[in-house]
Parts: sequence; C-alpha cells; structure tokens
Amino acid sequence: MEKENNARREFLKKAGVMLGAGLTVTSLSSLIVSCEKDEILPPPPPGSNVTIKLSDYPSLLNVGGIVKVSVTVPTNLMFIIKREGEKEFIIFEALCPHQGEELIPDPDKTGKKIFCPKHVVDFSAEKSNKGVVINNPQGVKVDSLKTDYKYEFDDVSNTLKILL
Ligand code: FES
Repeated sequence: MEKENNARREFLKKAGVMLGAGLTVTSLSSLIVSCEKDEILPPPPPGSNVTIKLSDYPSLLNVGGIVKVSVTVPTNLMFIIKREGEKEFIIFEALCPHQGEELIPDPDKTGKKIFCPKHVVDFSAEKSNKGVVINNPQGVKVDSLKTDYKYEFDDVSNTLKILL
C-alpha cells in the first residue's frame, strides 16, 4: 500500500510538472487533497483564488488563532491558516511534503507548531521561522512547509482571498 501511494504521488508530481501550470511540485502535491483516495484532480487554474469567510472559522477571528481549512472551489484544497495580526495571516500547506500526510495544526494549543503524525515531525507555526522543521526524532528527509501563498484580506467583509 505504501509502495502504491508513493508511486501515485510520484506520478502526480510528474504530471504536475508536465502540465506546466506554474505551480511547484511541492505546491501541487500539497494542494491536491484527495490523492490518497484514488482521485486524480487537476491543479487549480493559474490565477485562480479561493475566498474564505473568517466567520466560518471562529479560531481565525482572534490573533494567534490557527485552523485547518478545506475548500472545494476551484478544486479540493486544504490549507492551515494562522492569524498573525489584525490584517496579517500565515498560510501553510496542509499536507506533509515528505509523504503527503494530512498535518495537524496546533497540537499542543500553543499556536507554535504544526504536527505530522506519520513520522512525528513538528513544523514551526511561528512567524520567525514559519514552516521550518523544528522536531524530527526519526530523522526523515522532509522539507519545510510551503508558506509563500499570497493573500488579500478584506476587513469589511472579513474575508481572506488566497491567490493560487
Ligand atoms: S509524512 Fe510527514 S514527516 Fe513523513
């Protein structure tokens, strides 16, 4: 099963490169939520975006809040979002860059970490070293999380638009 998942993941990565969609391999693998469920979804069209109503995620109404967000438009996507300030957010990929495991935001409720349960890796959720591996007891070869998503925050409608 593990071998099949790795083969599928490799295929998706290569397919993403061939599509030339302007997305990096890391972002493609992290954006496609359902690859572990035998669904091959196209990457979101370049230039597309998703808009999130903060009222749907009460944790994001307060500075320091961190939450996992799933959206289905333009395709199934998942992010971890942290509110860093009144108008400042950090957006992380929500699937581990090592083997695509779904990550857990804020496992210890300190707002400082994002956890990968598969190989017990912690990534920093802090602004100073966002996405960096901070605990890796098994020594797996894992990159930092993608965090360079662009966004626009509208404090009137209280919506966050993530540019893809
Ligand atoms: S799958 Fe996350 S560290 Fe291995």
